[in-house]
Amino acid sequence: MLDVIKDVVTCLLVLKCVRIDELIESGRLSPFSPIALICNRLRVHWLPYIDGYIYGPSPGITEVLERILSLLKPNSMLDLFCGSGAFSKLAYLMNVKKIKAVDIYVEAARRNLRKLEGIEVEEGDALRIRSGRYDMVVADPPEEKIRELIDRLPELRRLYKDVAVVWVGPYHKAVEIIKTLSRDEKCIVVEAWGDAVAVFWKKKKHETIIERAIKNIG
Ligand SMILES: C[S@@+](CC[C@H](N)C(=O)[O-])C[C@H]1O[C@@H](n2cnc3c(N)ncnc32)[C@H](O)[C@@H]1O
Repeated sequence: MLDVIKDVVTCLLVLKCVRIDELIESGRLSPFSPIALICNRLRVHWLPYIDGYIYGPSPGITEVLERILSLLKPNSMLDLFCGSGAFSKLAYLMNVKKIKAVDIYVEAARRNLRKLEGIEVEEGDALRIRSGRYDMVVADPPEEKIRELIDRLPELRRLYKDVAVVWVGPYHKAVEIIKTLSRDEKCIVVEAWGDAVAVFWKKKKHETIIERAIKNIG
């Protein structure tokens, strides 16, 4: 029954994707905004527009992810709450061979990622993914889903072998989450360009890599 209600709510949302150059031409997005610059560099042209909000890759988690990918060199990655698919494109450009991107609305990701070998785009609830195992997971939830995602950490941990990178909110609003996560010995929350990004690892050798990756971050 709950699933039916969720489906109806999803149907009532205004879901579409918008071209970044149109947003820039209409003055809704500055060509110098971090999202526009990141997308330009990745050659990502479409962003999801969901109920009045335009989503895309924000600078803090993008930088943490890029630094970790370049040192960890994973073979596979799961991109939860993928939105535009920018993080999947980043991983693809950094030689990650097997990538799955999941979102409730996947049209923008499908357009940005089409024809890229090794990337699968799946429409679905990122909080209910139970199958598959990847070297890395990146999760960039909307703010209202952060608490639920943190409550589901045991399920999330089953999805990755090495490292997970999770956006846990604007840094100044993340006090409670940081307190909760500080009890976990294999997690660090880094402040990156005003955002709080949690990095989880499993093996000791990855702790050193992560320390190097997040050193001197914005
Ligand atoms: C902050 S945006 C992600 C931006 C993305 N990292 C990018 O680079 O474009 C959050 C995304 O979560 C998606 N979303 C919200 N609830 C979801 C759910 N339960 N399962 C999967 N995706 C969800 C939204 O559609 C939106 O694309």
